[in-house]
Amino acid sequence: MEIRIENLNKIYRNGNKALSDINLTIEDGMFGLLGPNGAGKSTLMRILVTLMKPSTGKVTVNGLDLQKNRREVRTLLGYLPQDFRFFAKYSTWEFLDYSARLAGLRSRSIRNREVEKMLEQVGLFEARDRQAGRLSGGMKRRLGIAQALIGNPKIVIVDEPTTGLDPDERIRFRNLLSKMTEQEMIIILSTHIVGDISSTCRSMALLEKGKMVFEGPPDNLITKTRGHVFQMSVSNREFEDVKEKFNVISTIPAVNGWEVQVVANDTGNYPSTLIEPNLEHAYVYFMELVLGQKQEIY
Ligand SMILES: Nc1ncnc2c1ncn2[C@@H]1O[C@H](COP(=O)(O)OP(=O)(O)O)[C@@H](O)[C@H]1O
Ligand SMILES: [Mg+2]
Repeated sequence: MEIRIENLNKIYRNGNKALSDINLTIEDGMFGLLGPNGAGKSTLMRILVTLMKPSTGKVTVNGLDLQKNRREVRTLLGYLPQDFRFFAKYSTWEFLDYSARLAGLRSRSIRNREVEKMLEQVGLFEARDRQAGRLSGGMKRRLGIAQALIGNPKIVIVDEPTTGLDPDERIRFRNLLSKMTEQEMIIILSTHIVGDISSTCRSMALLEKGKMVFEGPPDNLITKTRGHVFQMSVSNREFEDVKEKFNVISTIPAVNGWEVQVVANDTGNYPSTLIEPNLEHAYVYFMELVLGQKQEIY
């Protein structure tokens, strides 16, 4: 599969410019769309699932124009919207059966088999007769992914699927998705949480205020951050100063003060050692220093 996005712009009717000149090619595997709230992630996803038209620009899926071949492209898609809703009165099983029908599974016997398989896969088989409205938060989210995955879509688009999940559910969710990527399909996952991206995504894009500021493997983002992450030991008094001057990533109490990690271009008069960055560091480095949101004061 290949999704090609060319010169994509979206301006909402009220004048909000949600996407500016996005150019991006997405291939098989898990793709992470990272960015803070308001960056344009949901807008991009709604365009990709043909719920909304771009203002200008073009998207093709395996060469098929999204606008001109809307129906054909839709049969390839599974979508979990950010504000996923379902009929609370339906049982978990009924809801998935309904989703399977929407996905075009007409034969009842095939549908039964697919629904059952999906319930097993997302760990909801025991809860199949429970009213969907009575599922726990994590289970509801798994029902959301199940309805997106049913009918074997070739492109799965999930918008902030881990928001509000506890760490265990989050890991479970990630594993569920990454298992899918063994097949020839595209999974696009949006998130404002760096940890959702690191382990699972082969490729990613970083969106900020509608612009794509990075695209590539997460490791490339990390590489660009080398030389900008420092560890230093500071006293309690210095700590106040350090918090004002630098982007502090982590702090650990030490005997006479604090061990801190900062993302900076340099640490001025403070003795420090460079450390190997992770994706969390890279995200802060890009948002704060490269994009210059927060100025460093010496
Ligand atoms: N229906 C809409 N009408 C007008 N502006 C919108 C609408 N939806 C989103 N926006 C604006 O577009 C920008 C991108 O929003 P969104 O795509 O929801 O970002 P994200 O999903 O990354 O949080 C924001 O500034 C948001 O306020
Ligand atoms: Mg959103």
